[in-house]
Amino acid sequence: MSAVDVIRTKRDGGGLTDEQIDWVVGAYTRGEVADEQMSALAMAIFLNGMTAAETARWTRAMIDSGERLTWPAGRPTVDKHSTGGVGDKITLPLAPLVAACGVAVPQLSGRGLGHTGGTLDKLESIPGWRAQLTTAEIAAQLETVGAVVCAPTSGLAPADRKLYALRDVTGTVECVALIASSIMSKKIAEGAGALVLDVKAGSGAFMPDVESARELARALVAIGVEHGLRVSALITDMSVPLGRAVGNAVEVAEAVDVLRGGGPADVVELTLALAREMLALAGVDVDPARVLASGRAYDTWRAMITAQGGDPDAALPEPAHVHTVTARRSGVLSTLDARAVGVAAWRLGAGRARKEDPVQAAAGVLCRAKPGDRVTAGEPILELRTDTPDAIPSALAALEGGYAIADSAPERTPLVLETLR
Ligand code: URA
Repeated sequence: MSAVDVIRTKRDGGGLTDEQIDWVVGAYTRGEVADEQMSALAMAIFLNGMTAAETARWTRAMIDSGERLTWPAGRPTVDKHSTGGVGDKITLPLAPLVAACGVAVPQLSGRGLGHTGGTLDKLESIPGWRAQLTTAEIAAQLETVGAVVCAPTSGLAPADRKLYALRDVTGTVECVALIASSIMSKKIAEGAGALVLDVKAGSGAFMPDVESARELARALVAIGVEHGLRVSALITDMSVPLGRAVGNAVEVAEAVDVLRGGGPADVVELTLALAREMLALAGVDVDPARVLASGRAYDTWRAMITAQGGDPDAALPEPAHVHTVTARRSGVLSTLDARAVGVAAWRLGAGRARKEDPVQAAAGVLCRAKPGDRVTAGEPILELRTDTPDAIPSALAALEGGYAIADSAPERTPLVLETLR
């Protein structure tokens, strides 16, 4: 088979055969198809799309490029994947909560890129915590603790690792077929029996509106069903940051508040909504709200952090500098744009521009007010946290026009917009 023939087929709007897909994905992983050829093919797919059948086959080929993990048979396994947002620390309370309800949660997570945060970056702000585990360590922790949040093992969907890095530098990330196959190849190879997808819609998300989020959610669910996974998707609002904390250590602190029975109402609401969906898919009839209130989820969190070398009692890093943004007038905070806050947190050092950049554990934005909150002139609205004060002017520039104070409260958007099963 020839890479040029495969590229020409897609370039001219044709459908790729199963043989073409299997060959090109496999050969690219082995280094027999060059980056420039795969770039051309990715652009042809970006421009002409892939059918559901092509997308499912592409996903299968990416799964088959590496290992497929299996877990101890004692408990049902279920995972959650979020398409990424601002202040989205839900995995932190959710994984131990669902595990405390009796379901094993193997969650192989990613790092942040751009204005969206990454679960591993947040957890790494806990002194001693280790993201990289072997498959045997993950299996052992699933048996003893019930929840593992860690980096993907190196053998998991290597085709996607290579292709995603290529898409990142060739303007071919924002393509539903490629995003869906990328996410699902990793999630299916990870070996959980069920998966709940949290597809974000809004300014802080990949998908800016509900229609595009729905299209992605449908593609993700269809691939899961095709591969025999029990799968559902919640489309959730990402026009406002989730919770009050955006960054790394600040988000861990907020997640711990939730696990100890406090925390912002929206974080608690989404954690419980996703937990209910995960438990339903796993066939476990337990009320997660009661388990959260009992403190058992917090105990599981402590065990999960300790098992990965972290100290759940250690003080979290504090920033060297805090700049407070205050209300210019009294009224009600009417908007707080997720993207503006995400970009500000990123510029303060909480995120990275390139995969290999380090992040600051203590950097981020603490939203002292959220839409609907009354504010008085001079009162703090946002706390900008960083170790590099030079970053503050550009963070402030990102926030310009990103929040407003009005006389009356804004209409409340529901957090969970749709559920697809
Ligand atoms: N996340 C992924 O894992 N892959 C994509 O293509 C986009 C987001």
